[in-house]
Amino acid sequence: MDYILFGIIAYLIGSIPFGLIVGKIGYKTDIREHGSGNLGGTNTFRVLGVKAGLIVTVADILKGTLAARLPWIFDSDINLLIIGIVAVIGHMYPIFAHFRGGKAVATSGGIILAVSPLLFLIILATFFITLYVTKYVSLSSIVTGVVTVIAAIILQEIGLIIVTSILTLFVIYRHRTNIKRIINKTEPKITWM
Ligand code: G3P
Repeated sequence: MDYILFGIIAYLIGSIPFGLIVGKIGYKTDIREHGSGNLGGTNTFRVLGVKAGLIVTVADILKGTLAARLPWIFDSDINLLIIGIVAVIGHMYPIFAHFRGGKAVATSGGIILAVSPLLFLIILATFFITLYVTKYVSLSSIVTGVVTVIAAIILQEIGLIIVTSILTLFVIYRHRTNIKRIINKTEPKITWM
């Protein structure tokens, strides 16, 4: 019963479309009609600038953290990682935004933050080092996902290995158009780093 209740709440939290809210309220813009069309922090940076991008990225991270922390907040012993995965499904397929959501990166990061702030810092460093080297946000997201699985394997945490593997598969699946563009050399690179 707890899993259904917490699952529904987590899905609804994950479904909050911060990219759409910030874009529409602050800039009268639906970011899904611009840039890559993705409802995430990267496209918000691209379309609306640094301030909006930072707000959306942090909010998308924190909704993953909040969802994964729900069992702890309500003193339930259900698995926080499973609840976190449901929040990421909400982020990718949000009921409040016609099921057109983001690519699972920031909200997955938020789950890792809830589980281990140290691992979160490691994956943050991995992301920015990869970004510095490749200039591709999408590739950095995928590489970070894979490194997170490797870190979970090194830590020998079976639950974390399973969950990070699922989240990384989500990330790869949601980046399939980016992967095609990287192969075709048409994926945009960042220019500010
Ligand atoms: O987090 C999403 C990022 O990896 C790619 O976003 O907008 O370039 O497809 P975008």
